Amino acid sequence: MVHDLQHRMLARPDAEEAGRQRYVLAMKRYLTGRIRPGNEAVYDHEVRPAFSRAHAGREPATRAELREALLANPHYQAWCSLNRTSQEMMWQAVGETVLREAPRMREQAQHLCAQREVLGGLRLDPDFEPPEVLQRVNIHLQPGGYARTLDAEDILAGAFYESGGNLYSMGRGMGAKDSKAGAVIAWLAEHHPDFRPRRILDMGCSAGASSVPYAQAFPDAEVHALDIGAAMLRYAHARAESLGARVFFHQLDAAATDFDDESFDLIVSHNLFHEISDETRRGMLAETWRLLAPGGMCLHQDVAIQNRTRSLFEQVERSWDVEFNNEPFWECYADADIVSEMQAAGFPAEDARELPLPKISGPGHWYVAFGRKPA
Ligand SMILES: C[S@@+](CC[C@H](N)C(=O)[O-])C[C@H]1O[C@@H](n2cnc3c(N)ncnc32)[C@H](O)[C@@H]1O
Repeated sequence: MVHDLQHRMLARPDAEEAGRQRYVLAMKRYLTGRIRPGNEAVYDHEVRPAFSRAHAGREPATRAELREALLANPHYQAWCSLNRTSQEMMWQAVGETVLREAPRMREQAQHLCAQREVLGGLRLDPDFEPPEVLQRVNIHLQPGGYARTLDAEDILAGAFYESGGNLYSMGRGMGAKDSKAGAVIAWLAEHHPDFRPRRILDMGCSAGASSVPYAQAFPDAEVHALDIGAAMLRYAHARAESLGARVFFHQLDAAATDFDDESFDLIVSHNLFHEISDETRRGMLAETWRLLAPGGMCLHQDVAIQNRTRSLFEQVERSWDVEFNNEPFWECYADADIVSEMQAAGFPAEDARELPLPKISGPGHWYVAFGRKPA
């Protein structure tokens, strides 16, 4: 139900744990489908009129004003509180399975990565210092965060990420189809059917759920993936091996890699933009330009939350994650002019643009920053 893609590295819930996970999933769906729509209704019928009465007939003019008014409303308070609770319950429910399964998963990882016919690879750097913010902030409340590495065999960050991600995306995001990479691959097949990348790079790969589909879609290509966490990457490597996918994982910062100039034909990232600072994003785009071979393309995908396309109410409601879900960069991503940043990184104006990419599972679309280096 929650995990539609089974493999040997996945934490397997027992019957009771699966029941608790299903409960959290049902709660999240209920909150999103039935409670959240009420936020806009109470804003229109209660919060905005009350604000107008108190401010000589005018409406909230800034996000800060609207946020303050909304946060005083009992319906909105209840949604905020229940949403936060569902997130905490999710990590508790996933955590009991991951921690119970940890010894088996560590053993699997060692077995999968020690066998003679390992397909891909893992390059960890003992001197690598993960970005300070990721050592301090547990993004979307993941226990221990992305960067935590307990010992030289630790795989927990990746195990938490995959099991939590399956629930977090309400059973859709990291499974067999991995809709994010699937959407990019489908777009490439439709718009560039003759494109045959020889080397592909996936930036901010986490557990590698988006990296593996590239190895499967482009079996002749060498697929590389990078992230900052050793435990995350150890899990990603074992997971890719268990799925029979040839992926080379590296512990690197997306904004400062050590790959050669012009050494990739396709560079992608999935849901990375909203989790990095403005400075890191600009560094990552500069790095994308440096690493792309002539004729190469980049598609950086993320959630479509651009503030310029949203009402002030939507901007505030969507920034719930900043205050309550440890997503410090959510709003700066939503405000960013990424196409201008790509041009500043070197992409010609005619080869840098945004694409709305239809989701493969679920309604709506993803945001993609598309760029091409002239041949
Ligand atoms: C939301 S997750 C990405 C999920 C993954 N791409 C997927 O589709 O399943 C963001 C990841 O980016 C990584 N990350 C954050 N800052 C980074 C940086 N500066 N360089 C490389 N990776 C980074 C985090 O460690 C985390 O694993």
